[in-house]
Amino acid sequence: MKQIIVAIDGYSSCGKSTIAKQLASYAGYRYIDTGAMYRAVAFYALQHRLTDDAQVVAALPDIHINFLRQDDGTQHTWLNGEDIEKAIRTLEVGNRASQVSQIKEVRQFLVEQQQAMGKDKGIVMDGRDIGTVVFPQAELKLFLTASLEVRAQRRFKELQDKNPDDKTLRYEDVLRDVNDRDYRDTHRTESPLRQAEDAVVVDNSNLTPDQQSALVCNLLNERLSTL
Ligand code: DC
Repeated sequence: MKQIIVAIDGYSSCGKSTIAKQLASYAGYRYIDTGAMYRAVAFYALQHRLTDDAQVVAALPDIHINFLRQDDGTQHTWLNGEDIEKAIRTLEVGNRASQVSQIKEVRQFLVEQQQAMGKDKGIVMDGRDIGTVVFPQAELKLFLTASLEVRAQRRFKELQDKNPDDKTLRYEDVLRDVNDRDYRDTHRTESPLRQAEDAVVVDNSNLTPDQQSALVCNLLNERLSTL
């Protein structure tokens, strides 16, 4: 299959990573979850009790993030030689990630690494600024949306599945959290979430995973046929 860049952007919990993984596996491309990179910086900041932005910026040279494929085919996020995949999927890390993602130097630091990962193409990358900032030249751009309630339900279930023993988890908190995160993602000064002009909008509120997969694989094939 021809090697292109697929950029996937959208609100939190609208199924970007599911679509990205489906497309990457269909096309035999590499998948990069850029949200995990912001979460890794946030995790480091929490671990080292870095409370202000200047401390986070000063620590960037000590933050080494990579993605390693596991024996079961899934990909895990590693930070400085430690597998942090499970630890970064919490509300606390998500909230801190939303804060550190507003720091200009953090964005520059991660965007540079993301661009380097895409230099040979054959990549599906998801995030908030992929089609607008990281790869404005991406051959296929998707912008995903789903209703706030559908997204909050999905995030709630995801958190429940990841940490079944967490008795403090409440749907109302998750709903408020997703809503707050939408606001911060779209209103920040640095690279706010917005739809690229040439992005295809996919609203998956009422799509099953199979319908969604068929739709995006068709979009990819259509795009490839024009190149
Ligand atoms: O997609 P996610 O929930 O794992 O992302 C975590 C946070 O990182 C979220 O608040 C938005 C931010 N983010 C970003 O600003 N830019 C990206 N390319 C990816 C994520």
